[in-house]
Amino acid sequence: MNNDLSGKVIAVTGGFGNLGMATALTVANCGAQVILIDSAAAPASKLPEALVDALVLGGVDLASEEAAKQAMAEIAAKFGSLSGLVNVAGDFRWATVQEGDLDTWDYMFRVNLKTAVTASKAALPLLAAHEGARIVNIGAGAANKGAPGMGPYAASKSAVARLTEALAEEFKESGLTVNAVLPSIIDTPRNRADIPGADASRWVKPEAIAEVIAFLLSRRADAITGALIPVFGRV
Ligand SMILES: NC(=O)c1ccc[n+]([C@@H]2O[C@H](COP(=O)([O-])OP(=O)(O)OC[C@H]3O[C@@H](n4cnc5c(N)ncnc54)[C@H](OP(=O)(O)O)[C@@H]3O)[C@@H](O)[C@H]2O)c1
Repeated sequence: MNNDLSGKVIAVTGGFGNLGMATALTVANCGAQVILIDSAAAPASKLPEALVDALVLGGVDLASEEAAKQAMAEIAAKFGSLSGLVNVAGDFRWATVQEGDLDTWDYMFRVNLKTAVTASKAALPLLAAHEGARIVNIGAGAANKGAPGMGPYAASKSAVARLTEALAEEFKESGLTVNAVLPSIIDTPRNRADIPGADASRWVKPEAIAEVIAFLLSRRADAITGALIPVFGRV
C-alpha cells in the first residue's frame, strides 16, 4: 500500500528530528520532492539515500515570521510551488503550574503553536495556488486532558488543535485541507532515556505516524479536513 505523492513538493518542519526525519523519508519514498526545515544548523547524521535530492534548510527559527518567509521564498525560487506543509517542529517540557516558571509557558507556545502558525501563514500563498494542497499539524494525545506537570505542553498542543480546526474552516471552500495527527508517546531515544522501565513496544513508532501523515497528504484524503486523528500505538 503506497500513498502516491509523485509530483508533490512537501515541506517538513522540524525535519531533522525523530518524527520529522521519519516523515521526510516516508514522503520521499511515496515520490515527493521533500524540503526539510529546522532550527538546528544541520541534521545530526548523514541523510538516508532516499533524501539525497531533498532541499535542506537549516538554522531556520520558524517562530520568526521573517525566517519563515525567507524559507518559503527559497522553496518558491527552487520549485515554483508547494503542495504540502507538515508542521512537526515542537518540543516538550514538564512543569507544574505551581512550581514551574512562566518562561516554560512562553517556550511551549512559541515552539509548538507559533512555529505552526508562522510556517502556515508563510506557506499559504504558495499552498493556496496549488490544487489539493495540504497542511498537516502535529498535536498530541496528551493535550486532550490536562494532568499534573502537563499544563504548558497540553495547553500549547490544545492550541494547535484549535489552529487546525480554524484554518480548515477558513479554507473549507477550497481544495486545501488542514488536519492534525495526535501522537501518544513516540518511541524516540529521548523518551526511552526519560522513561526508563516503560514498555516501549507499546509506544507508537515515528514511521507509523509518518504513514498516517503521508495518507493525509495524498489525494486519497481529499474528503478529510479539520480532523484531529489520534495515532496512539498501544498506549
Ligand atoms: N516525542 C513524543 O513522544 C511526542 C508525543 C506527542 C507529540 N509530539 C510532537 O511531535 C513533534 C516531533 O517530536 P519529536 O519527538 O520528533 O521531536 P524532536 O526529535 O525534538 O524534533 C523536533 C525538531 O523540531 C526542531 N525545532 C524546534 N524548534 C524549532 C523552531 N523554532 N523552528 C524550526 N525547528 C524547530 C528541533 O530542532 P532543535 O533540535 O534545534 O531544537 C528538532 O529538530 C513535536 O511537535 C512534538 O511536540 C511528540
